[in-house]
Amino acid sequence: MSQNRISTCVFPVAGFGSRFLPATKAVPKEMLPVVDKPLIQYGVEEAVAAGLTQCCFINGRHKQAIENHFDRNVELESSIQGSSKELLLDGVNQLMETCAFSSIRQLQANGLGHAIGCSEPAVGDNPFAVILPDDLCVNSHGPGVLAQMVELYEKFQCSIVAIEEVPSNQVSKYGVVDGDEIEEGIFRLHNMVEKPTVDEAPSNLAIIGRYILSPDIYQLIGDTKPGKSGEVQITDALMEQAREGRVIGYQFKGKRFDCGSVRGYVAATNYCFEQFYED
Ligand code: G1P
Repeated sequence: MSQNRISTCVFPVAGFGSRFLPATKAVPKEMLPVVDKPLIQYGVEEAVAAGLTQCCFINGRHKQAIENHFDRNVELESSIQGSSKELLLDGVNQLMETCAFSSIRQLQANGLGHAIGCSEPAVGDNPFAVILPDDLCVNSHGPGVLAQMVELYEKFQCSIVAIEEVPSNQVSKYGVVDGDEIEEGIFRLHNMVEKPTVDEAPSNLAIIGRYILSPDIYQLIGDTKPGKSGEVQITDALMEQAREGRVIGYQFKGKRFDCGSVRGYVAATNYCFEQFYED
């Protein structure tokens, strides 16, 4: 039965992380630490802070470390029991108490749209969130980015993508959107193009890795032909909703680091060290 509360966050994590080789040869890119916490944990914390209670990893072969991170490690726990090191696990333990974790294998790498489509058995006929953990988002002045979007969903009851202005020479790395600004920083989208050239780009407003999707997206993904790079793109499936005025672009409050690039990863590390690290 369809309900309006968003309770599941989908994390597409099946990618190889080839931009980060050799670091990611045996270690999933989502497990690379930003200071002392793996990237994926920042994403799960953001989902939990937005009130979500189920996390579903769309996983690939050789990436069990992600599931293991959100599970007990009895041998380790008993070896540090009673020492101050126990405290270091408090954060992840709290997430495990708040949230139920599941994972679904994406059998072939067939694009982000396909990966999100794989989550249907976990989500059903409900609106849901998607976090791409490569995009680390922080907001030191208020609610996290996903929490801002969940609040916006209450009002608009349709799909929402987080957007940010990027320099024109960067548009080809993103889904790029155009729409009517209906309130400050809130756009009703009418155009969405996956990784356009500078000439094809409808604007310099890029989608970043936070989505809220209405459940009819599954049917649309199923109908979406392979697009850019021969893969099923979520941007193309969303464009079908945008044609009917059912996608909002939201210029979020906060900062985003592209941790899929070395430069962004180092910037995120420096930022998080300054903001959150205590000796
Ligand atoms: C994906 C999406 C793209 C979006 C980007 C945000 O691309 O396909 O539309 O702008 O995430 O990070 P990827 O970075 O996985 O190639």
